[in-house]
Amino acid sequence: MSTPKKLYIKTYGCQMNVYDSERMAEALGGSGYVETQTPDDADMILFNTCHIRERAVEKVYSDLGRLKVFKAAKPDLKIGVAGCVAQAEGAEIMRRQPMVDLVVGPQSYHRLPELEARTRKGVRALDTDFPADDKFETLRHRPKVARGPTAFLTVQEGCDKFCAFCVVPYTRGAEVSRPVERILEEARNLVDRGVREITLLGQNVNAYHGAGTDGDWSLARLIWALDEIDGLERIRFTTSHPNDMSDDLIEAHGHCAKLMPYLHLPVQSGSDRILKRMNRSHTADDYLRLIERIRAARPDILISGDFIVGFPEETEEDFEQTLALIRAVEYGQAYSFKYSTRPGTPAAEREQLVEDVKTERLYRLQALLAEQQRRVQDRMVGRDVSVLIERSGRLPGQMVGKSEYLHAVHVADADASVDAAIGQLARVRITGSGTNSLSGVLK
Ligand code: SAH
Ligand code: SF4
Ligand code: F3S
Repeated sequence: MSTPKKLYIKTYGCQMNVYDSERMAEALGGSGYVETQTPDDADMILFNTCHIRERAVEKVYSDLGRLKVFKAAKPDLKIGVAGCVAQAEGAEIMRRQPMVDLVVGPQSYHRLPELEARTRKGVRALDTDFPADDKFETLRHRPKVARGPTAFLTVQEGCDKFCAFCVVPYTRGAEVSRPVERILEEARNLVDRGVREITLLGQNVNAYHGAGTDGDWSLARLIWALDEIDGLERIRFTTSHPNDMSDDLIEAHGHCAKLMPYLHLPVQSGSDRILKRMNRSHTADDYLRLIERIRAARPDILISGDFIVGFPEETEEDFEQTLALIRAVEYGQAYSFKYSTRPGTPAAEREQLVEDVKTERLYRLQALLAEQQRRVQDRMVGRDVSVLIERSGRLPGQMVGKSEYLHAVHVADADASVDAAIGQLARVRITGSGTNSLSGVLK
């Protein structure tokens, strides 16, 4: 048997790219590749890229530049660019980066084996189609690799919302939901390989409406079907849009024990004027009332969000409305960004705020969010939580995992066999709250 070729994948961007990178590794497994954790000994280096903000794209180009030495040392090395930058700027990458052998978009990566074969013949390959054949179906029977007790599972992809700042509808295409039975099959397969927690992924995951046994199913119905899989202990989903937070999904948060009390519900701004200019089609008040209903169903739920500061025309008053909304919600987790102009999106054409204003607002916003997150985390001290053990910690007998609320928890138990504990749920009494994690002891 010939020695396997080595594949190094670097993943940028969102969780869906993490999922896609695993699928790409599986696809190339059929061409004789095994994954390696370092680029040094790789026969193929693949960048799975993100186009969401300018900074993310710059990072890809600077990392690509650094590959020149690898290619010089190993002329046979193949270099590929996948993901959302590939989709948005594929032809340009081919033109500007002669050392790139292949470019593949997020909807055509199931064709990687044939693209790779072409590059072996010395032909550069570009595929950024939105093909009619379904990548999930093509890759369905490829052996899956066990990667620990938690896994991502893409159930919905693409977006039809067209927020004025966002590239996703262009890079990922129109909103598509996978059929229920395929998702359940993939979930059972993951559980057979030791997975205990599944995070359902979609750019608009709560708009899920995949074909089920009797017409289209909602995300809530899918969650209830997953709830019946023995051995699956935890279900999460991300990312949701406020407008698609349906009654049955809110209700599931109150009744489905496997559905974790954590909800990522981005609002972006607290100003109605800016929300309108962003094409978000909800008001700040709609969002606040929604949060109230979700908390009525599941009082301890941890709310997480995304914010953009310095969107075109944002005044100090608009910005203060965002701060007020944050104070009203009390976030346990949050991601915040300076608005970044993205070519081809409507907001890129508008008059832009100066950088200093964006920087200063981001600083204030992040200070408030950090204070809230710390408060929410500190309140866990003295409480008992369930922790899914994922790995060993740095200290002897120390184990690390996540609570229901997605807080990282360091669990001390000098007698524990950490290897045996991985994948187990532990009852833990929280005894301390640090900068980025909690600590606790086994109950
Ligand atoms: N589908 C998800 C998130 C998509 S992108 C949703 O609808 O919420 C993840 C986050 O990146 C967004 O929530 C937004 O806060 C941020 N983002 C997207 N485009 C951006 C841009 N042009 N500049 C700055 N942040 C942006
Ligand atoms: Fe982008 Fe999310 Fe808006 Fe879709 S809903 S356009 S993915 S921010
Ligand atoms: Fe980035 Fe594409 Fe995800 S632009 S955030 S990798 S959908």
